[in-house]
Amino acid sequence: MITIALPKGRIAEQTLEKFEKAFGEKFEFEDRKLILKKAGFTFLNVRNQDVPTYVMYGSADLGVVGLDVLEEKEYDLVKLLDLEIGKCRVAIGLKAGDSIDWNRSSIKVATKHTAIAKKFFESKAMAVELVKLYGSIELAPLVGLSDCIVDIVETGETMKQNGLVVGDTIMETSAHLIANKNSFYSKKSAILDLKEKLERT
Ligand code: PRP
Repeated sequence: MITIALPKGRIAEQTLEKFEKAFGEKFEFEDRKLILKKAGFTFLNVRNQDVPTYVMYGSADLGVVGLDVLEEKEYDLVKLLDLEIGKCRVAIGLKAGDSIDWNRSSIKVATKHTAIAKKFFESKAMAVELVKLYGSIELAPLVGLSDCIVDIVETGETMKQNGLVVGDTIMETSAHLIANKNSFYSKKSAILDLKEKLERT
């Protein structure tokens, strides 16, 4: 039995479609159920940011998560495969007409991605005042909560519709299959077999 933590929503659905192609079985969470057991797999339906935690503590052998979320957690996990879904980037967002004065000594940044934002601005020799938000990040510069934001951009439509412009890209991200280190060694052949089958989908 292999346990896999999936991030609720579109990525979970797309991952389960890949499993369906790879194993010829339909995998679908029932209504509000958070666990799905079928064909030797247990899938857990968890919040995006919680996937690395389930895998790190070994409650799941594997997980599917964006590189940006992995980067935020800084856990020691095995990166197995780029699933090439959920492709987007982490970028700076600014009020249209605003620009970042890189000579400033500090900047106020609203984001869900605090570790990534801190690292990026510090690499530019700028101190960062972080405002941690959990969603609707685009609002922050509009209401004076921050100078800029660091957020996920897929099409750029959310920023555009809210009067922001997309600035520098900090990192590209996509959903990756990750493994718990102990599970990777103890279930190596099953995990590698699964990886190969998913690679072919
Ligand atoms: C992300 C992000 C933006 C939006 C960007 O939110 O925070 O708001 O997607 O997409 P776009 O560039 O195509 O407009 P998401 O929908 O993932 O929800 P979240 O806030 O819960 O992370």
